[in-house]
Amino acid sequence: MIVRAQPRARYAVIGNPIAHSRSPGIHAAFAAQTGEAIEYGTMLAPLDGFVASVERFISEGGAGLNVTLPFKEQACQWVRQRGGALSPRAQAAGAVNTLRFDTGEVLGDNTDGAGLVRDLQERHNVVLPGARVLLLGAGGAARGAAQAFLGCGVGTLLVANRTPARARQLVSELADQRASAISWSELGSVAAQLVIQATSAALTGGDLDLPAAVFAGRPFCYDMAYAPRSTPFLDQARQAGCQRCADGLGMLVEQAAESFLIWRGVRPQTEPVYRSLRAQLDAA
Ligand code: ATR
Repeated sequence: MIVRAQPRARYAVIGNPIAHSRSPGIHAAFAAQTGEAIEYGTMLAPLDGFVASVERFISEGGAGLNVTLPFKEQACQWVRQRGGALSPRAQAAGAVNTLRFDTGEVLGDNTDGAGLVRDLQERHNVVLPGARVLLLGAGGAARGAAQAFLGCGVGTLLVANRTPARARQLVSELADQRASAISWSELGSVAAQLVIQATSAALTGGDLDLPAAVFAGRPFCYDMAYAPRSTPFLDQARQAGCQRCADGLGMLVEQAAESFLIWRGVRPQTEPVYRSLRAQLDAA
């Protein structure tokens, strides 16, 4: 009897730059664990060539894409223009990190906020309903986080941004009385139970310049970025006496698992993949 190999459904992560991405390793681990027949690679799109790259991938039979910097907002606009379907959470975030092509229409979703909330609640035992949350940043990453926090019942969401107008803009779009914008200079006088670092300062090598008072009440401190050992934000939090701190590695794995669920209908176990990535990062 001839046993034919099942054709592998093709997925990739598209971005610029992309060589650093850990997504291929994460999805390979999910596929091995669940027995799903997929292949998952990286796709470097020119900065002015996102749409052409995606259309080529579709025409070659690609089943789905993850979208990363700097294309998440453009991906959302492209799904709209192409007449595809956007999930409510992608619409609310104005950004797409997961595309699906194998259902006959283009679907755009955003799993970043769900990945963040899942990491906080399941891995770090943070209680979000009713919590007073301080969100640092008002860019794309902060937007997805803000939506997810409001969606899971936080009591107060304070959005602080270096450029205050952007924080005010985000809060007005959120249109939720639990959310308010505060200026960077007010950071010294706010108290929160959870502080989320959602700026791109670490990526761009900038200094966050936070007053120590942000950490005075020993909040849980979470950096959506991750790096070997620690990040400047988490270093500052620990020096100020915050014992409960976490970086965004768990969010990375959880948002990937949520994408895998959308594509394959199976939710993979994230803990072994998270542990293996953590060990790799610690050894770096
Ligand atoms: P992303 O999609 O990663 O959120 P973005 O939309 O460009 O990227 O937003 C970057 C965010 O990081 C913004 O909130 C930015 O603040 P400004 O709106 O004032 O530019 C914030 N940010 C970047 N570098 C920063 C720094 N050194 N200190 C404080 N905030 C910084």
